[in-house]
Amino acid sequence: MADTRQVTSTVTIRRAVRGDLDAVVAIENVSFPTPWSRALLASELHQPGSVYLVADIAGSVAGFVGLWHVLDEGHICTLAVSPDWRGHGIGELLVLAALRAAIEVGSDAVHLEYRVGNGPAEALYRKLGFERVGMRAGYYSDTGEDAVLARLTGLGSTSGRERLKAAWERWRQERGLQVAID
Ligand SMILES: CC(C)(COP(=O)(O)OP(=O)(O)OC[C@H]1O[C@@H](n2cnc3c(N)ncnc32)[C@H](O)[C@@H]1OP(=O)(O)O)[C@@H](O)C(=O)NCCC(=O)NCCS
Repeated sequence: MADTRQVTSTVTIRRAVRGDLDAVVAIENVSFPTPWSRALLASELHQPGSVYLVADIAGSVAGFVGLWHVLDEGHICTLAVSPDWRGHGIGELLVLAALRAAIEVGSDAVHLEYRVGNGPAEALYRKLGFERVGMRAGYYSDTGEDAVLARLTGLGSTSGRERLKAAWERWRQERGLQVAID
């Protein structure tokens, strides 16, 4: 994958389209021990009640996030950033964008799960205010790892909205990248 970090400073967050599938599959395959299949990802992109967003940098997909709306809550079902772009704030930006999408449809809470040994994911979610609410023993059948269940609540409240706004501002100040929301 081309390293475009030297030639652009704008990240565009937009809805994933069918043309993104090759890039999404490539990132999926290098990011998870048991990647979702191309067919599953293709159907996920267009599932009613799901929102898939990509971070597009100079026409290349740097990462993606998936959000399901389940009743009145959001569920972040997947998140991955290309190894070329890790450590540049893209994962955090994608989660912020997913939280914003959840608020837009009226969700007050977002939950998710991650492997107990996934330090980067844990640090990212904790940074954004997610709290551990439980564990599922042996949830990941490929490795037998436990899942940590985490949750962020109060998104729709005034303080929740202010927290999210502050997180966006902090992101903009910390990272040397412009953001466009499409
Ligand atoms: C987890 C993942 C999405 C993070 O994406 P990223 O773009 O590299 O993360 P960011 O640069 O936005 O980092 C945001 C915060 O996450 C945490 N973080 C990210 N990578 C980290 C690492 N390697 N070690 C410790 N903390 C890390 C930090 O708190 C960081 O904030 P900081 O830069 O102020 O320290 C990425 O590592 C990935 O795609 N991993 C494989 C797939 C995966 O595990 N997905 C999550 C499944 S639930």
